[in-house]
Amino acid sequence: ALVSMRQMLDHAAEHGYGIPAFNVNNLEQVRAIMLAANDTNSPVILQGSAGARAYAGAPFLRHLILAAIEEFPHIPVVMHQDHGTSPSVCQRSIQLGFSSVMMDGSLMDDGKTPSSYEYNVDVTRRTVEMAHACGVSVEGELGCLGSLETGEAGEEDGIGAVGKLTMDQMLTDPEEAADFVQKTQVDALAIACGTSHGAYKFTRPPTGDILAIDRIKAIHSRIPNTHLVMHGSSSVPQEWLAIINKYGGNIPETYGVPVEQIQEGIKNGVRKINIDTDLRLASTGAVRRFLAENPSEFDPRKFLKASTQAMYDICKARYEAFGAVGHA
Ligand code: G3H
Ligand code: 13P
Ligand code: NA
Ligand code: ZN
Repeated sequence: ALVSMRQMLDHAAEHGYGIPAFNVNNLEQVRAIMLAANDTNSPVILQGSAGARAYAGAPFLRHLILAAIEEFPHIPVVMHQDHGTSPSVCQRSIQLGFSSVMMDGSLMDDGKTPSSYEYNVDVTRRTVEMAHACGVSVEGELGCLGSLETGEAGEEDGIGAVGKLTMDQMLTDPEEAADFVQKTQVDALAIACGTSHGAYKFTRPPTGDILAIDRIKAIHSRIPNTHLVMHGSSSVPQEWLAIINKYGGNIPETYGVPVEQIQEGIKNGVRKINIDTDLRLASTGAVRRFLAENPSEFDPRKFLKASTQAMYDICKARYEAFGAVGHA
């Protein structure tokens, strides 16, 4: 059944678990996520970005998610719009039937330039007013995502600030978060705590606390009723990088956020964990391997089945690691 983000994350908070929010663009991703959720009895957040709408078309994206709800009626599903760049983009998604929208006012509506605090409060407050009138939840964002190791904002594809960030920009301020929530009334808040979008988060194997866990703790204690969201939470599985590179790919050495660090975040108030890159890597690795090992196959269902299976395994592992299993 379709549920709001507020309803799903309230339950997660009450029971102390986290929910992976997977980006979806195609049938195989949606099926992999739903099959894993069904087999583990886990709640589901399916999120679509502007890039997903450009790729699949808004009606197909919407109906893929509606099909998931129809096929698995016993699984609660949040249909979430990822990284909305303006109140009008969010309004369109509300009209299409999304049960949750992200108004990312941490950047200007070009999706690149860091915005002023006043701008962020204004666009987010207006979105909440509109969304709440329709029973739709809102996720805001405060702070700019960036790797605490490299100071880089991550991929420059319109969902992250460009270039180097200061330490101040890369960590959400707890007092500002409290003011932001009071002024905007958001249901969930994406925070900057050391993660960044894409596959290139860290250049060396992360050890110890590579996220600002104390900062997460401090933010959570100031806004205990607002659900914390961690973007850029792919773990960048080394085994899939190796498979991609073994079968003709060329991806340089790189590392993601260790699952144990995400678990620390969950212990300290993180409820929604955004993952896109891991499913992309698994899908690409599985397709490369299948085609290399089966050079005479040309039925796309064969290599797409391998893709679905690889993504399924990641989804299942995340549901288990984040404690979401059995909470559907
Ligand atoms: O945070 C962004 C997601 O990874 C979506 O990426 O804009 O390429 O669809 P995309
Ligand atoms: P990753 O690139 O780490 O998968 O993050 C995805 C994300 O934050 C989508 O909003
Ligand atoms: Na989001
Ligand atoms: Zn994101």
